[in-house]
This record gives sequence, structure tokens and C-alpha cells, in this order.
Amino acid sequence: MPETEEPQGELAIRVMPMPADLNGAGDVFGGYVMSQMDIAGSLMAAELAGGRVVTVAVDSMHFVAPVKVGDVLCIYDRAVRRGRTSVTIRIEAWVRRGLIGDREKVTQADFTYVHLDEQGRPAPLPRETEKTSP
Ligand SMILES: CC(C)(COP(=O)(O)OP(=O)(O)OC[C@H]1O[C@@H](n2cnc3c(N)ncnc32)[C@H](O)[C@@H]1OP(=O)(O)O)[C@@H](O)C(=O)NCCC(=O)NCCS
Repeated sequence: MPETEEPQGELAIRVMPMPADLNGAGDVFGGYVMSQMDIAGSLMAAELAGGRVVTVAVDSMHFVAPVKVGDVLCIYDRAVRRGRTSVTIRIEAWVRRGLIGDREKVTQADFTYVHLDEQGRPAPLPRETEKTSP
């Protein structure tokens, strides 16, 4: 990872993991990080869709650094693809070591969400506006 790399997108979530979020080795459980990413992405997707969305796909994801107790987990996101009923959000997870220390990238993935109507069927995204364009 180049040292000059900066987080891309909006800061959507800033949270401090708690001991209940740890795995057996004492680091933060990867599923916790993924769930925070999914929460952030679904909020952005719902805003773009103007309604209910579901997660339909997550592209391959690998963790390049651990998250430890005392780190602050920061989730950044941005829309990168807009389909007929679906939108793809690129989501990055970074940590601030020990609350105020160095910033380090943990993982990144593309999450795709589908806009659903009241019957739970895929529904077209609203017409593109400045706010809804990726
Ligand atoms: C989301 C869901 C309604 C889509 O149903 P479907 O029969 O595949 O619907 P469609 O074929 O009309 O596809 C709808 C959109 O999803 C996209 N899509 C479907 N499967 C996909 C996949 N595996 N990867 C990426 N996009 C996918 C399609 O490309 C389409 O997008 P577009 O309209 O922008 O082109 C259905 O798969 C579902 O309910 N999945 C469960 C979602 C869920 O519960 N998530 C939380 C799990 S805990």
C-alpha cells in the first residue's frame, strides 16, 4: 500500500470496536468490519434509491491489516456504478491506531444493492439528479 494513499469517498461511519467485537486472537472480528461496511453502503444506496435496498453482492475482499482494540474504525464510501435497479458502492475501511495514531487501510470492497418496491421486487432507481449520480 503506497504511503501516499488517502481514503476515497465520504466518511460514513466512525466507530470504536468494543471487546465483544474481538475474535479469539484478540483482534477485531472481520465480520464486524464487514457489517459496518454494509451498514455504511446500505445507507448511501438507500439515499440514492430513495427507498428500501438489499445487499445483493459483495466483490472479493481481503484484509491487509488488523483492527485492534483501541483503534477507531473509519468507513468511507462512494457510488461507482448505477444500473437500472442496482447501485454499486465502493467501500473502504481504515483505522486510526490507538484513537489518534497513524491511519492505515484495512480493506476495501464493492457492495451492490438493489432497490426494492413494497412487494420486495427490484424497482427502477429514480431518475438521476445531481444528488443521485455516482
Ligand atoms: C436482490 C434480489 C431481489 C434480486 O433478484 P433477481 O431475481 O436477481 O432480480 P433481477 O434479475 O431483476 O436483478 C436485479 C438487479 O440485481 C442485480 N444483480 C442480481 N444478482 C446480482 C449479483 N450476483 N451481483 C451483482 N448484481 C446482481 C442485477 O444485475 C440487477 O441490476 P440492474 O437492474 O441494475 O441491472 C434477490 O436476489 C434477493 O432478494 N436476494 C436476497 C437479498 C438479501 O436478502 N440480502 C441480504 C442478505 S442477509
